[in-house]
Amino acid sequence: MASLPDPVPNVQQLLAFYLEAGVDCALAEEPVDHLADPDAAPPGREAAPVQPVRTIAAMLPTARIEAAPAPEAAIALARETARTAPTLEALRGLLEKFDGCALKHTATRLVFADGNPNARVMFVGEAPGREEDLEGLPFVGRSGKLLDRMIATIGLDRSKAYIANVIPWRPPGNRTPTPQESQICLPFIRRQIELANPDVLVCMGGPASQALLGIKQGIKATRGRWFEFHTGTREIRAIATYHPAYLLRTPAEKRFSWRDFLAIKKALSES
Ligand code: URA
Repeated sequence: MASLPDPVPNVQQLLAFYLEAGVDCALAEEPVDHLADPDAAPPGREAAPVQPVRTIAAMLPTARIEAAPAPEAAIALARETARTAPTLEALRGLLEKFDGCALKHTATRLVFADGNPNARVMFVGEAPGREEDLEGLPFVGRSGKLLDRMIATIGLDRSKAYIANVIPWRPPGNRTPTPQESQICLPFIRRQIELANPDVLVCMGGPASQALLGIKQGIKATRGRWFEFHTGTREIRAIATYHPAYLLRTPAEKRFSWRDFLAIKKALSES
């Protein structure tokens, strides 16, 4: 007996399928054949201009993509805005209203912080991923679960640690944030650190370490090293360590993180 053809999926089902498969943003209006010879484009057909990134979720209703200000203006605006926040809650409110970073328009929600803002140790990662974007909390996906286990080894949990990211909006498709995006978000995370006022700052991964510690070297060269970090009101100790996502991919390196976490424990007992 001849089998019935598969029913044609509707748009919703197709988008749900893409989301499930991890394809959660569109980079252009038209599909791009990356293997096509660029010189062989049919005459009269201009290359499609690059469109702003849109999340699949944002395509469903009537999403509007606002034009973000030029990077220099956005960085200046971020500095002025972040400086005015008297409290962490005020800072969160200012970030909710801040329109200088285009990532805000593709993310589902702001991922500000988790844990205890009065904790003596603050962990900072690079940027939220898919799970964090959906929940609005940092480090709740696979790497977050590993981070929880790592901090548990030194007697901490989220009630004794404060957790945030350099960038508080998920870059579409988890792409690497651009240097401009990091620069725009930097004044906010710096102010967040100043207001949380931890004794010890833990920068997880190369991008967070470079952004916060102003270093150029990669994480392999800097992990385990202590730095002086000026919060704006005082000097605190800061350490660079591997990002948990890297450890998930490279478990053999966990032994180095173990050393870093013991050093963090020691620093907390000393300060
Ligand atoms: N990776 C990060 O850097 N931050 C998160 O919140 C989750 C994964």
